[in-house]
Amino acid sequence: MRPTQVLVVCLGNICRSPAAQGILESIANNRGLKSLSVDSAGTAAYHVGNSPDSRSIKALRSVGIDISSQKARKVTSEDFERFDWIMAMDRENLQNLRAIQPVGSKAKLVLFGKYRQDVNFGEVEDPYYGGSEGFTHMREHLQTIAESFISHILDSTRE
Ligand code: 4NP
Repeated sequence: MRPTQVLVVCLGNICRSPAAQGILESIANNRGLKSLSVDSAGTAAYHVGNSPDSRSIKALRSVGIDISSQKARKVTSEDFERFDWIMAMDRENLQNLRAIQPVGSKAKLVLFGKYRQDVNFGEVEDPYYGGSEGFTHMREHLQTIAESFISHILDSTRE
């Protein structure tokens, strides 16, 4: 079966979306979902080519997930044809993505915390300018959303 292709997007692609990628891959692996392919990107180019923020790496390492080898990249218009889902961390990222989404492109563009109508986990706040507790909170929030999203994908692939 062709994998479901998911792109998670934040602003810089160094804090939230690399963490979301690592968490989604880890949960998919733990729950036996093989047909999922995950990538991450940013709407801004400030950090292109950089590793994730050391505070994100640390917050994820504490739950056994290694995101240190990821490298930041910027979203491209081709991403809207390649991915089934493009999921933004907050409304500002969602608006920026809507502005560059090619007309008629394939991707389902949503807020990660509202990946379908009957769920609402809100926005994943930007932890960049805060302390390490913000990164713990970010990780927990991402874990909650990712567990729910993986359940949704498992349910819909069983149908
Ligand atoms: P992210 O966090 O969007 O979760 O990767 C940020 C990273 C960098 C900046 C802002 C947010 N920045 O302004 O450089």
